[in-house]
Amino acid sequence: MKIIRAKDYKDMSRKAANIISAQVIMKPNCVLGLATGGTPVGTYAQLIDWYNKGDVDFSEVTTVNLDEYRGLPRDHEQSYWYFMQKNFFGSVNVQPDRIHVPDGSNPNAEEACREYDAIIRNVGGIDLQLLGIGVDGHIGFNEPGQAFELGTHCVDLTESTIDANQRFFNSRDEVPRQAYTMGIKTIMQARKVLMVANGANKAEIIKKAFFGPVTPEVPASILQMHPDFILVGDQDALALI
Ligand code: GLP
Repeated sequence: MKIIRAKDYKDMSRKAANIISAQVIMKPNCVLGLATGGTPVGTYAQLIDWYNKGDVDFSEVTTVNLDEYRGLPRDHEQSYWYFMQKNFFGSVNVQPDRIHVPDGSNPNAEEACREYDAIIRNVGGIDLQLLGIGVDGHIGFNEPGQAFELGTHCVDLTESTIDANQRFFNSRDEVPRQAYTMGIKTIMQARKVLMVANGANKAEIIKKAFFGPVTPEVPASILQMHPDFILVGDQDALALI
């Protein structure tokens, strides 16, 4: 595990974007696992900036996103598909047919998850997986208590995750209660894992996840066992370690 301390959010975003662009430069046809949430938005903005300057090219890159709300169609403003278009894909040259997000509009959970695992397998696995972290230690939507050995599956979101994500919806009632998420097994099989974390509200969980026991109660703690895991955090998120 490697921990990189950044001064602030902007610095964190820049350092994370640097690692992603290095990956793309070293292997132009790489597979990037991408994440949503507020934390990586600055990382995407920095990559867009470098793309506009001609410093990084995504034309051969394949992407697989971590998760999607079950029941939201792609064009719903709060779907992760929409988020990714708005914050990244709409501004860079990733080819549309190489963009993959679990199909939240497919009500058949088993089929949606099976198809997504097949996609990840067929693209040859993930070279670099970008992650944020939930305040309860979830990664993707792998909530506390789930088995580490799962592939893509359907999850019931915890009350704390529904609370945390309600800020994006008009009301708490509108937050979907379920999601399709890549499992921990798939995340652990990524050749490199990069987590971004910022803000004082992440400090406790960062300490627990990376300096506490490895346990399904803190899903991110398994990353302690990953052979190439990098955490880039700002001062506030890393304040307790
Ligand atoms: C959601 C996403 C996660 C993300 C988490 C934290 O639950 N499914 O992938 O890491 O939120 O989000 P934020 O970065 O906004 O704190």
